[in-house]
Amino acid sequence: MSPSFLSSTFSFFIVLLYLGVFQISYGAQQSTYIVHMAKSQMPSSFDQHCLWYESSLRSVSESAELLYTYNNAINGFSTRLTPQEADSLMTHPGVISVLPEKRYELDTTRSSQFLGLDVHNAGLFPETTGASSDIVIGVLDSGVWPESKSFSDEGYGPVPSTWKGECEAGTNFTASLCNRKLVGARFFVRGNEATSGPVDESIESRSPRDDTGHGTHTSSTAAGSVVEGASLLGFANGTARGVASRARVAVYKVCWRYGGCSSSDILAGIDKAIEDNVNILSISLSNVAVDYYGDEIAIGAFSAMERGIFVSCSAGNRGPSPFSVRNVAPWITTVGAGTIDRDFRALVVLGNGKNYTGASLFKGDALPPKLLSFVYAGNASNNDTGNLCYPETLIPEKVKGKIVMCEDGGNSRIHKGEVVKAAGGLGMIVANTADDGEELQAVAYLSMAATVGQKAGDIIRNYVLTDPNPTATIVIQGTVVNVQPSPVLAAFSSRGPNRVTPNILKPDLIAPGVNILAGWTGAISPTGLDSDTRRVDFNILSGTSMSCPHVSGLAALLMSVHPRWSPAAIRSALMTTAYKTYKDGKQIIDIATVTPSTPFGYGAGHVSPMMATNPGLIYDLTTEDYLDFLCAMDYTSSDIEIVSRRSYTCDPSKTYSVADLNYPSFAVYVNRAGAYKYTRTVTSVGGVGTYSVKVTSEETTAVKIVVEPAVLNFKKVNEKKSYVVTFTVDLSKPSGFTSFGSIEWSDGKHVVSSPLTVYWNY
Ligand SMILES: *[C@@H]1O[C@H](CO)[C@@H](O)[C@H](O)[C@H]1NC(C)=O
Ligand SMILES: *[C@@H]1O[C@H](CO)[C@@H](O)[C@H](O)[C@H]1NC(C)=O
Ligand SMILES: *[C@@H]1O[C@H](CO)[C@@H](O)[C@H](O)[C@H]1NC(C)=O
Ligand SMILES: *[C@@H]1O[C@H](CO)[C@@H](O)[C@H](O)[C@H]1NC(C)=O
Ligand SMILES: *[C@@H]1O[C@H](CO)[C@@H](O)[C@H](O)[C@H]1NC(C)=O
Repeated sequence: MSPSFLSSTFSFFIVLLYLGVFQISYGAQQSTYIVHMAKSQMPSSFDQHCLWYESSLRSVSESAELLYTYNNAINGFSTRLTPQEADSLMTHPGVISVLPEKRYELDTTRSSQFLGLDVHNAGLFPETTGASSDIVIGVLDSGVWPESKSFSDEGYGPVPSTWKGECEAGTNFTASLCNRKLVGARFFVRGNEATSGPVDESIESRSPRDDTGHGTHTSSTAAGSVVEGASLLGFANGTARGVASRARVAVYKVCWRYGGCSSSDILAGIDKAIEDNVNILSISLSNVAVDYYGDEIAIGAFSAMERGIFVSCSAGNRGPSPFSVRNVAPWITTVGAGTIDRDFRALVVLGNGKNYTGASLFKGDALPPKLLSFVYAGNASNNDTGNLCYPETLIPEKVKGKIVMCEDGGNSRIHKGEVVKAAGGLGMIVANTADDGEELQAVAYLSMAATVGQKAGDIIRNYVLTDPNPTATIVIQGTVVNVQPSPVLAAFSSRGPNRVTPNILKPDLIAPGVNILAGWTGAISPTGLDSDTRRVDFNILSGTSMSCPHVSGLAALLMSVHPRWSPAAIRSALMTTAYKTYKDGKQIIDIATVTPSTPFGYGAGHVSPMMATNPGLIYDLTTEDYLDFLCAMDYTSSDIEIVSRRSYTCDPSKTYSVADLNYPSFAVYVNRAGAYKYTRTVTSVGGVGTYSVKVTSEETTAVKIVVEPAVLNFKKVNEKKSYVVTFTVDLSKPSGFTSFGSIEWSDGKHVVSSPLTVYWNY
């Protein structure tokens, strides 16, 4: 080893050490800020905006580094500052806002691991023409496992000539891993590293490689290639395919196993995706809904929308609580989750002769063919929370050789199963609480176990606690298809009303998001547990994270059939053709309560891909319409500039109303008696025809609904016609009362349906 190498190694070490000390002394006070700049105010002495940004930053800090300069998603940059520096930067000319960055979460189900979801994609759409292979779906997530067969490029033509993206190399990832299917892969880590320190490359790839599985799952759901013989441990066996299986995928890794998803990295991902020319952005991440100028996904999505990019986002997994819906900006398509017609059944057999159907993805030896002694965990523990089956709280003598009933809550269900097994138990039954109701999310248990719904759980608990000699067993029954009713609304799927703009209904619609099979990483087990040494090519997960990429894929298919449609037109087609009832006419069930769901749960309904190609009428929206919407929100000019990157002056002589945003649904938020008027304009994309309106409403006395005109006569294709809906409401209902209904236009061939909600709140 030469002396010069030694000395350079040594100085490198010094630099690292110095940085370490620097972070200890200043790190505690510094945090990451996103700085929005008014580009139009750039002094003429600068010829490049990045030099102006740099000079503005220098005016408050000599040493602060630019983490990112943004050019497309926003005008501005991100950096590390102390609160004092941030305040002082705020007063600098041309600075519109200095906002602390936030963390967004991945929307798989609430548990810390990504639990159970499979989607059966086959048959969702006919095999489309070559056009869909020119569509690129950008997925902002945890990266990709490029070796997954879902990203095989066999049979794909050349990469579309409009594509400008790249394949970035890093830990365990070379540029040659991209191909004609996976056309781009980038990673954004500066925001995460500035907060959490350098990525530990021995446990996490500092590259687009997916070490958590989530990004591989979402991107293969949206556009995975066709893979025959796919399954998780034999469950959900069949052919796996992305919804738009001919479309191309570009991944933008913004979520890290350690550190999560930082908004400075998310904005950088959106910024690049716009520059790279993606056609669709699929974002299965969320944070609590706040005003749009404080929500980086909403801000980035606005710029994407302006470029004709369709943005679909997860609605969040905070259901069934009301007001829990996230990603509510009206230029985003907000996707809730429903089930498909497939279950992974496990039968719980009790000594009293009764059987209850639960769910399990346990793959292993069956129990001996007889009833086994059955015990309630709370009666086999010295701990007052023994019923939750925390590690080392079960008494082995009371559990050995038995079936054990544990309660949900605290640790994950997979962990509970491990605790029962460690104490010598042969099997576990765990019951849902009210949070999940009757929803049976499948879990890849490492030992014999079954999840049962809340109702069965109550009966089983009563049996084990009262029978003098309780016995039970569990029989794994495997994959069952054609389960009815389906879909049902997932309990976890976040619900309206929309807390930011109550006069815009969110979520927009639902798509498959429970027990979905899609591609998986080779880096971790299907349960995400380190103690689980299994590695699988496909995994089954649940969440609005899984329903969002279904809609991203559907949008790609619609875009290929209707290349001139705007993102709003595509969303309109998906919403107005969505279904709310089963074939027997009964409303889609909310599995949290096993009662009919409402538009606050399913929005316009469940996507109906075939119908969406030919919607008849669409509700279109332009950038200008959204700017008027921001005026109607009473946003200041700087709030509007943060969202839209332009100085836009609301016309003081004009009356702006959120109710006039040309949205394909109606939400009335009642705080006074009287008339609420909503104006809409429909475009006839289905050609010539006469449409007449049908209004349905649960409540007919406290709210009266009139549509004028009631007939729309279209004489040519793409003709536009407007109508006004007047809701006349009295205050005879208590605050919190809701009424639902629909406004449907039909020419006899098409049915163009919009949900309506009325919410009394005072
Ligand atoms: C990178 O790949 C090597 C060899 O396959 C493996 O041993 C290592 O754990 C990987 N590192 C990460 C962070 O995945
Ligand atoms: C799944 O596997 C079962 C059992 O081997 C088989 O009967 C069934 O036909 C398979 N389903 C599909 C879709 O391949
Ligand atoms: C319960 O399941 C067991 C095992 O499959 C079966 O033998 C028994 O007949 C079932 N009992 C009822 C009442 O369905
Ligand atoms: C078993 O647990 C239940 C519920 O916690 C309790 O009511 C009951 O007294 C316990 N039985 C015994 C024998 O400890
Ligand atoms: C009960 O178990 C929990 C979790 O392991 C532990 O934190 C707690 O100290 C235990 N309580 C008792 C009384 O043993």
